[in-house]
Amino acid sequence: MDGTAIRTIDLFAGAGGLALGFRQAALGFTSVFAVEVDPAAARTFKQNFGCEVFDGPIEAVDHYPEADLIIGGPPCQGFSPLGRDRDDESRAQLNDLWQQYLKAVCELQPKAFVIENVPQFQKSAQFARLLELMETDEDLKQYSYNYGVLNAADYGVAQTRRRGIFVAVRGVDDVPWPPPPTHGPESPSGQEYLTLRDVIGDLPSYPKNAEITFDSEGRQDLHIKRNPTAKSLARYRAIPEGGNRFDLRRNRPDLEPRCWANKATGTTDVMGRLWWDRPGFTIRTEFYKPEKGRYLHPQYDRPITHREAARIQSFPDDFVFEGTKIDVARQIGNAVPAKLGRALAEFVYALAFADGKWSTERKEDRQLSLLA
Ligand SMILES: C[S@@+](CC[C@H](N)C(=O)[O-])C[C@H]1O[C@@H](n2cnc3c(N)ncnc32)[C@H](O)[C@@H]1O
Repeated sequence: MDGTAIRTIDLFAGAGGLALGFRQAALGFTSVFAVEVDPAAARTFKQNFGCEVFDGPIEAVDHYPEADLIIGGPPCQGFSPLGRDRDDESRAQLNDLWQQYLKAVCELQPKAFVIENVPQFQKSAQFARLLELMETDEDLKQYSYNYGVLNAADYGVAQTRRRGIFVAVRGVDDVPWPPPPTHGPESPSGQEYLTLRDVIGDLPSYPKNAEITFDSEGRQDLHIKRNPTAKSLARYRAIPEGGNRFDLRRNRPDLEPRCWANKATGTTDVMGRLWWDRPGFTIRTEFYKPEKGRYLHPQYDRPITHREAARIQSFPDDFVFEGTKIDVARQIGNAVPAKLGRALAEFVYALAFADGKWSTERKEDRQLSLLA
């Protein structure tokens, strides 16, 4: 590693969508260590970034290498409306993981850190506690910070994915907000949003393979098909571009699942079909199940493929994922879109690293009790 490398640690690293954006910025951000409990995601990170990956729970990390920057997204299910069915205890555990993140910050004293989470985190009691610590803790007080909800489409991603982002920089007067958008009506350039046609329009209509394969040059084929039943196919056909389960009710009431028939209202994304000329909707971990969201291809009678989901998340085709189809889908759905990561990298670089003067001051004996 050369002397200008900005040593970056990724906590809750997943496949590394966020880390990829920092690398793509080509400003010197270099992954030196990552923590990820999901074995398949940990292997993906290792394969693509080549650094040491602790593939266990963050609570078991007993030593971090020195770092100039910490990035990462403590898991979000505990705050998300989608996690409502979790029992209270496991929700509390998930919510407490952000404290593990701050523990690493207090130990390593990086020049800057970035926390990514679902928008709801910023409205939670846990976030209020985090803000309190930023004002009162002797080490955290040295950081200026700002935060808000960013839409990935504003940063060149073909997806309206909203994420809560928190940026802290040590030793500066102010962190302005938001990072300047690059696309959409709020951007200085006024550049149009990327659409699905832009990012998946070139892919074959109906893929041949049902399993993930590699070609002779090591390229991973993620454009894989599912095998829907005749009934599922007939349902897909009843839904036009931009339509949803209410079109199914209108066009083929005989095919409407009984559990939906009694619901006059409710989410309009279920069995939703995407639009060619708009950004996609939030890709989650089960994007291959049309009954879980707006995942039908804009034109063809099938859900989007793993390759399409990865492109909508702005992963390049040469990024290789490890694990089964389900593992890979989870990694894609959990990721921060790389291009959003890249915009954050440029923002953080300008605030914290562009002058070339930064230092870290390690505090091995930092007590987590302060965070309790
Ligand atoms: C939102 S995802 C991170 C996505 C990642 N930043 C990206 O851009 O690809 C959160 C990750 O935290 C991991 N995780 C959950 N609990 C953990 C724990 N206790 N220790 C380490 N990792 C954990 C999950 O397996 C998941 O991959």
